[in-house]
Amino acid sequence: MSDDPVRLDLRGDIAVVTIDNPPVNALGQAVRAGLVRAAERIAQDAAIRGAVLVCAGRTFVAGADITEFGKPPAPPSLRDSNAALESLDKPVVAVLHGTALGGGLELALSCHYRVIDSAGVVGLPEVTLGIIPGAGGTQRLPRLIGVAPALDIITSGRRVTGEEALRLGIADAIAQGDRLAFALAFLRARFDHPLPRVSKRPFPVTDPEAILALRAAVTKKSPGQVAPARAIDVIAASAGRDFAEGQALEQEAFEALRASPQSKALRHIFFAERAIAKVPGLGTARALARIGLVGGGLMGAGIGTACLLAGLSVCLVERDATALAAGRDRIDGLLDEAVKRGKLSAEDRAAMAATRLTTAVVMAALGDADLIIEAVFESLPVKQEVFRALDRVARPGAVLATNTSYLDVAAIAAVTSRPGDVIGLHFFSPAHIMKLVEIVAPSSADPDAVATGFALVKRLGKLGVWTANAEGFIGNRILSAYRRAADQMVEDGATPWAVDAAFRDFGFTMGVFAMQDMAGLDIGWATRQRLAPTRDPAERYVAISDRLCERGWFGRKTGRGYYIYKGAGATPNPEVDAIIAAERQAKGIKARAFTSAEIQNRVLLAMINEGAWILEDGVALRAGDIDVVMVNGYGFPRWRGGPMHAAEARGLAQVKAELETLRHEDTLWRAAPLQRLSNGKDVEA
Ligand code: 3HC
Ligand code: NAI
Repeated sequence: MSDDPVRLDLRGDIAVVTIDNPPVNALGQAVRAGLVRAAERIAQDAAIRGAVLVCAGRTFVAGADITEFGKPPAPPSLRDSNAALESLDKPVVAVLHGTALGGGLELALSCHYRVIDSAGVVGLPEVTLGIIPGAGGTQRLPRLIGVAPALDIITSGRRVTGEEALRLGIADAIAQGDRLAFALAFLRARFDHPLPRVSKRPFPVTDPEAILALRAAVTKKSPGQVAPARAIDVIAASAGRDFAEGQALEQEAFEALRASPQSKALRHIFFAERAIAKVPGLGTARALARIGLVGGGLMGAGIGTACLLAGLSVCLVERDATALAAGRDRIDGLLDEAVKRGKLSAEDRAAMAATRLTTAVVMAALGDADLIIEAVFESLPVKQEVFRALDRVARPGAVLATNTSYLDVAAIAAVTSRPGDVIGLHFFSPAHIMKLVEIVAPSSADPDAVATGFALVKRLGKLGVWTANAEGFIGNRILSAYRRAADQMVEDGATPWAVDAAFRDFGFTMGVFAMQDMAGLDIGWATRQRLAPTRDPAERYVAISDRLCERGWFGRKTGRGYYIYKGAGATPNPEVDAIIAAERQAKGIKARAFTSAEIQNRVLLAMINEGAWILEDGVALRAGDIDVVMVNGYGFPRWRGGPMHAAEARGLAQVKAELETLRHEDTLWRAAPLQRLSNGKDVEA
């Protein structure tokens, strides 16, 4: 059949089996069935002496078809198709290129030999989806390369280059020249060799102490996550067993994990991160090679570094020579760090600084930039002044972007003669590391300018999420809501440190008070002051953070906030207790106890509710976009899938009922319509 994703063509006495299942040759049912048919043909046709297994398109098989995971299993299984290939008594060579991941590598391990393209990578990223390898990976990889290196690859999910794959013994050769021609010659030279079958090797002896130590290290590194430790358990239990017994252990664990809430959450976020690029009405990206940058402070330096690392040219403009030197130093420091971390070679770093980074103190230097990012102080008049100047010097068609955290992008665009070219690009700190960028599209923005923002973010290897131009965009608006919930609990009896501990126990990287200390308490203070005139008088206002700021305690940068900072350490600031007590007394509040579970629940409900309002207001396109923002910008644990996924997992009717019970406390708990989260699947209109 012409639409069969597996073809078999004869090259003399060799069968070339080609998997052609775009976009990534995932192992859906039709591919598995096609592989079994190909194995039968190879077995039966006496004229065939061996086979090569190749993939069409950009990559070898990138894994099992994740879209099938929620559905009933459809035979043949991947275990069956792998066994069909491995049991052939004619040699089969897998020819790897692109990303041979998960089930793709397991398929390759079932072939008798593996040849890899020099740019190819392999890996078993199943733990990143909340599962373990389920088609023999936990059994064949340790048998092939030993327990310790196999555990490293399986528990980290990391990618292994072709060179390393060869060194470890995963690959038998790196293809030189045309990979198919190389593989055909490689196979021909092995026609008469005894067939290596990985599953027939004995399982290597394991060291129980090393396993225990690794288990402890993995649990510490990925707190809350079930799959990595489970992979270790399966491998430890496989010692001394034959392949069939080991595979049964693997299968049992795989099936249990596949149905687990963690795997559902991780699959949700996997697809949500791929859906963000689908923006209705997005235009065509304009040319993008030269980036202009206004402001080389904390954010500007990080953004400039990210652009340089992505191969773009950067021209940095600062307000005077001193600030310019400081900005350049910051970028130099970040590039040095990239060299130290092995992200950049010393030669590339030198060439980059010499040829692709220029600096100036006059805006005119930005005349040939394709896209200019402003990262000056967070002040509307200052930013408007910068955009008036940019309007005078930028070439026609250049995209002008602001990195504002909260300000009205349309009000910035309006001071230019070209509001269609103005968008927001809200990077997160540290901008050379954090993957999230909110792409703010005011209604005045031309779809091509917005598309150019998306193109830049993709070029930087980051995740761009569309947001309408509204106070706090997506992430900071949700932050304001859960910060309010946290402040109220502190005023009612919880300590900031207990709240932070509850965040960490939930799986956040840090608590909301430590995070505000890090960002600077003055930022939230300035925003609250700006919004004070329009604040709903019915809203419960907690002034504890204001009291800290009034004392000049802005967090880390002043050495004191909710915590006291000395060297690398942070300890609770005891004077905050007195401030809280005074606020309580002034309002006549009698302190009560909060459990960690109640703290977590209120924070989550505040996030869900604000997220639902954001959808209702059209600020975000999809519930999944909100989850991508919270996971990649605010430390929400990835394995919980994001707040909107958590809402669905709990049941929207239940969420609605819980919000109702809090409604009397404050406007914060006024329930948003929740239908948009799942088209109202389980909530009344
Ligand atoms: N199953 C189903 N669809 C998949 C898929 C998979 N394993 N991998 C990628 N896709 C889809 C994506 O959803 C996307 O679809 P869309 O165009 O409709 O949005 C499309 O393929 C292209 O994917 P990307 O946008 O991610 O393309 P990139 O070129 O940026 O990246 C990739 C390619 C590195 C292969 C990346 O897609 C990836 O990491 N995929 C997942 C790899 C993986 O986790 N494999 C293990 C799967 S689990 C498994 O194998 C279990 C086994 O042990 C039994
Ligand atoms: P910063 O104070 O570290 O840097 C601002 C820089 O802009 C300074 O180096 C200053 O000299 C320069 N500058 C000021 N006016 C200028 C002008 N007219 N021309 C050229 N340069 C000028 O501030 P930071 O933290 O980098 O913030 C910059 C912007 O990024 C703000 O809008 C902020 O809200 C936003 N942002 C900040 C985040 C953070 O975590 N700090 C996160 C996301 C966005």
